[in-house]
Amino acid sequence: MDAADAAFDPWSADFVADPYPAYARLRATGRAHWFAPTRQWLIPHHEDVSALLRDRRLGRTYTHRFTHEEFGQEPPDAAHEPFHTLNDHGLLDLEAADHARIRRLVSKAFTPRTVENLVPTVRRLAAGLVGDLVAAGGGDLLASVAEPLPVAVIAEMLGVPEEDEERGRLRPWSAAICGMFELNPSEEAARRAVVASIEFSDYLRELIARRRREPGDDLISSLIAVEELTEQEMISTCVLLLNAGHEATVNTTVNGWWTLLREGVRPDPEKLSTAVEELLRYDTPLQMFERWVLDDIELGGVTIPRGSEVALLFGSANRDPARFGPTADTLDLTRTDNPHVTFGAGIHYCLGAPLARLELTAVFAELLRQAPTLRLTAEPTWKPGYVIRGFEELLVEV
Ligand code: HEM
Repeated sequence: MDAADAAFDPWSADFVADPYPAYARLRATGRAHWFAPTRQWLIPHHEDVSALLRDRRLGRTYTHRFTHEEFGQEPPDAAHEPFHTLNDHGLLDLEAADHARIRRLVSKAFTPRTVENLVPTVRRLAAGLVGDLVAAGGGDLLASVAEPLPVAVIAEMLGVPEEDEERGRLRPWSAAICGMFELNPSEEAARRAVVASIEFSDYLRELIARRRREPGDDLISSLIAVEELTEQEMISTCVLLLNAGHEATVNTTVNGWWTLLREGVRPDPEKLSTAVEELLRYDTPLQMFERWVLDDIELGGVTIPRGSEVALLFGSANRDPARFGPTADTLDLTRTDNPHVTFGAGIHYCLGAPLARLELTAVFAELLRQAPTLRLTAEPTWKPGYVIRGFEELLVEV
């Protein structure tokens, strides 16, 4: 059976609303499925996704080893160059020595101690935002709580001043750029991403220049001080941090609450960390990540040759009964054996995982405490995106 027969259709609203039955069919019928519309091999099993994320025969890019021609790929469209320049020089899309160098520098900002120091700020922000939602009797949980918290935290960490009017543009810029991470993005999506890439880069270039003149106690100033990053690497990595620093956290908060409300369950506040891990597994906010095959690999008798692209189906891996047992499709807020792949694995393992966990537990704790009777006032609508999967809004009353 190929992927299309399994009803794998990332452009259909029904599939985005519930991709899990299609994943089950893919898992039942093979380890690697050719998906012609994107020319990718879909990988649905936990064991394979987890192993391939750690396998150095694959990479987020191939340009550190091959030219486009050698790799059998068309060079990216020249009209989209501002997006590619921005994307290709950030930590996530580098491999080998460049990745190791930048990861080492940025990791210094994400030590357990740095995150520990943020605890009071994150809790205070979460309490305030939830307090405002409760005082208003309800509203859109996404716009009023889920989004402002991680945006404010990551903006503060990088040193994006609150008084800069661009702070309000971080979210739309990010949304436009992330449009390019969906499968086969439209020309319109590419145009929006290009405009956002230019504007976002210009703003950061100016902010970096400002921090060179007046260093602060922030990540941009520390990256300037080590003098090991080019200007482009710095801009690209800051954009990555600002975008990755909120996109998935927003969706995990909202998708997680929708799951709780739909299932009619509430986590035990004493065991909130365990419950948050389960929500991260049960409805994975980032459904798939891609890798280029740099040297031939073999999966279940199928040879996937150099030059191919694999799509690692995180959402499927996290529901794989071979790893999570017969309750893989069940929400179990007390699950402790939970090796989900939601934050990835290997050299690109999410640098912000401790921060994301802190933000999620803080928001969930405040909602449980201040809004124990929270309920939906309208069925939410999924955004069209499959890779970065989340709702348009979540309307609630308290
Ligand atoms: C629930 C929230 C989050 C989820 C599910 C998530 C997930 C991921 C995943 C799966 C990757 C690896 C992608 C791959 O291997 O191709 C990744 C990388 C990354 N994430 Fe997160 N992330 C979250 C929050 C954050 C936050 C709050 C930050 C803060 C800055 C962040 C920063 C990064 C960075 C910098 C990388 C690139 C690491 C590298 O390439 O070495 N993420 N994230």
